[in-house]
Amino acid sequence: MNDSELSHVLTVIQQRTGISFRSDQTQSIQRTLLLLMQRLGITTSAAFVAAIQRDPQVYNELVDEITVGETYFFREPKQFDFIRHRIIPELRSRRGDSTILRAWSAACASGEEAYSLAILCQQESQQLDVLGTDLSIQSIAKARRASYRDWSFRGGAMSQVAKYLVQTHSAKHDQRYELSKQVRRHVRFQLLNLASDNYPNRSAGIGNFDLILCRNVLIYFQRETIDAIARRLYECLVPGGWLITASGDPSLIHSSDFAAITTQYGTFYQRSNPNATRQNAAAGVTKSKTEIKPKSDVSRPINSPRSAKAKSLPPAAEPAKSVAPSPRQSPSQMPLHSRVMAEARGALAAGDYAAAVRLTENQRQHPDACVIHIRGQAHLNAAAALRSCSEAVANHPLATELHYLRARLLMDANQLDEAARAIGRALFLDRSDVMSQFLAGSIQFRRGQWKIAYRHFETALKLCNQQDPQTLIPFSKQDTAAVTAAAAESQMTKIRALLAKTP
Ligand SMILES: C[S@@+](CC[C@H](N)C(=O)[O-])C[C@H]1O[C@@H](n2cnc3c(N)ncnc32)[C@H](O)[C@@H]1O
Repeated sequence: MNDSELSHVLTVIQQRTGISFRSDQTQSIQRTLLLLMQRLGITTSAAFVAAIQRDPQVYNELVDEITVGETYFFREPKQFDFIRHRIIPELRSRRGDSTILRAWSAACASGEEAYSLAILCQQESQQLDVLGTDLSIQSIAKARRASYRDWSFRGGAMSQVAKYLVQTHSAKHDQRYELSKQVRRHVRFQLLNLASDNYPNRSAGIGNFDLILCRNVLIYFQRETIDAIARRLYECLVPGGWLITASGDPSLIHSSDFAAITTQYGTFYQRSNPNATRQNAAAGVTKSKTEIKPKSDVSRPINSPRSAKAKSLPPAAEPAKSVAPSPRQSPSQMPLHSRVMAEARGALAAGDYAAAVRLTENQRQHPDACVIHIRGQAHLNAAAALRSCSEAVANHPLATELHYLRARLLMDANQLDEAARAIGRALFLDRSDVMSQFLAGSIQFRRGQWKIAYRHFETALKLCNQQDPQTLIPFSKQDTAAVTAAAAESQMTKIRALLAKTP
């Protein structure tokens, strides 16, 4: 695919799914698309575009390839604490103890988020009705199966979920657990493209929600799409209803009429409730002094003025002290290094490499800042990036990623022997690092050491296969284990062919 063909395919993908790719993802997405085309027996980009438009099977396969279904039970536990300690009590005080919480897990992936909500409600004896939706047909099928591996309970969720699990299958490396009917019966799943205008749709049950979780998906969209989604989500909530996005998601404060409410559990969005003041006044609730700040948006400068829309916390049926502002949630009160890093990461992700370099210039006593500095520089001036990287590994000799980056820069500069030594150091520090194994394979391949290269790709493949296919591989450009495994396999195939031709 040449550049203009690729750009046309990506435009079509964006029109159909809302998903757009950063410029630094171009190579990896192109690789993914080419592998898919190969598997489907499609040889030209024009035929591929036509198939995406006309053939639902091709479209679904494409969606499964380009989406990242990374999720797990009770991800970001503080957000679930907020639901338990604030949303449910508030709902009960407004509508009575027997009320049903209507919730929507938008972009639910394989369902862990929706089921976490159902479990939380069981624990709180709160009736509920949850809708889970996703773009990916495969994710919805998995969510409906409700059968999970240990990996879905990482981060300590097992203690909460265990009571609701039945162990269904146990092999040496494949233990599966099914969720009990007690939890499943409160949750239904259906396909929905958040970038479409198919919602609110009251007759399809998409509307009138008390709570929407829309986490870790907005990052895939461009600002215009995010704004349109925020407006539609707003319309899908009852007055006073809550929207929870992930702590790393883009801010919605300028996108809609949501009020951004900062609490000890994080910052959340609320649809305004004209009756709240009257109801709470009648209930004798005093107005909270909670400080309000827009959700942190890494693409916005740290000191940018607050949004005019950030409103004060509506009076709530719980003591003000329990929703005191969290210092950790306030960008202005974060330690300088964390603030700078948040902004620098945002700049790098947005392709503003000069800003990423500038922001990290004086932070190079920290290895994570060096990584961003060098990654940014690599886009602007490869020789300068290599110099910075050599300096950084001397200052931080135990930082695997810095050795990895140096090896890559050396390979790109065609200094293959030095690159092999550099990646050797990364592997000495961490043999189980997938990208270091992959890069070692690429370097040895370029040096003509095909058999050694083959072994590195084989190790990378094995390491990928030990992980959940959707896991993002560290040091990569957001590649999943599945994508990296496919790339390693393709290199191995190439080497086998070369070795077969060599006497
Ligand atoms: C990283 S997962 C997030 C899962 C869960 N919300 C969480 O935070 O753990 C992102 C999900 O968004 C879904 N997705 C991507 N684009 C979408 C779209 N346009 N409409 C609906 N879902 C989408 C993907 O299929 C994937 O399952």
